[in-house]
Amino acid sequence: MFIRNAWYTAAWADEVADKPLARRIMNEPIVLFRGQDGKVGALEDRCCHRGTPLNVGKVTELGLECGYHGLVFDQAGRCVRIPGQDQIPERAKVRHYPVVEKNAFIWIWMGEAARADTSQIIDYPWHDDHAQWPHKHARYDIKGNYMLMVDNLMDLTHLGYVHGSTIGGNPMQHVDAKMKVTRKDNGLHFMRWMLNSVPPPTYIKAAGFKGRIDRWQEFEFMAPSSILQGTGAFDAGSGAYDTGNQDSPFKFRLFHGLTPETETTCFYFWSAANGYRQDDPAATDQLFSEIGKAFLEDKAIVEQQQIGLNERGEAGLVDIATDGARVHMRRVVEQRLAAEARSIAAE
Ligand code: FES
Ligand SMILES: [Fe+2]
Repeated sequence: MFIRNAWYTAAWADEVADKPLARRIMNEPIVLFRGQDGKVGALEDRCCHRGTPLNVGKVTELGLECGYHGLVFDQAGRCVRIPGQDQIPERAKVRHYPVVEKNAFIWIWMGEAARADTSQIIDYPWHDDHAQWPHKHARYDIKGNYMLMVDNLMDLTHLGYVHGSTIGGNPMQHVDAKMKVTRKDNGLHFMRWMLNSVPPPTYIKAAGFKGRIDRWQEFEFMAPSSILQGTGAFDAGSGAYDTGNQDSPFKFRLFHGLTPETETTCFYFWSAANGYRQDDPAATDQLFSEIGKAFLEDKAIVEQQQIGLNERGEAGLVDIATDGARVHMRRVVEQRLAAEARSIAAE
């Protein structure tokens, strides 16, 4: 079960270049393409002539050309050319999905097109602020349900266990972190401080901390599966916790977007933006590669978790004290699913 009436990250904008891109989302084969007018389209990856996947075709002046007999489709899925005939039948079209290119993302709406409200698309201006927030982005293909990755990001006590060699630190410092969760109808926000804590290896490499640090993490979860993160650290004893100061000399931003491919696989779109040594491309590269290593650690543990769940399901699993944010996140998603089911039933 997936929330359909929502925007998901379908691709990074730079993945959709001059060739069609095949991407399965919520079990539906989709082809993304960029027309020669620069506009991106997302179509069902199935030609309405003989069912050939359109991703093996090519982009031409008029649109996406099927690789078999040359029918051409525009971004709205309308057939605009049939070689050898002038009349184009009304039925010659393929399903199209609303898509919007914004802040380096291609967002896709998987539900009813008429309900696609572009004002609901997340703003992520940091991707466009190359001077203050130089960033790099990536996509990891995860063999796990997308919610398992969102779970992972809602409970940071895993950092001490999963990320010891990167962004981790002492496990108990994570468990004892000061955590303030604000519940929202469509998500949640949390602010987390680890005062006087041992800096993890990634932080030492990036900022050269010599002693202990006051480390902060801010997370905003927006249903169904986007997470905006800000993180940073001061030298310990900064007093920043008391004043709420997050303008630390060392800080970075992470975006996490999880898009279901199937029930047991997903795409993890993430970016890392350098907010501390903006003039130094090597710093951005190093941040990206360290964070990339940490996220591979998440991928590995979540893929193991999925194997376990495939075998034995979720029955009998126990929530613990540090699951508060995760449990609220799941509740928000379940409420959205239920609301969507009710609106479909009412039609
Ligand atoms: S199958 Fe696409 S044009 Fe024939
Ligand atoms: Fe992690």
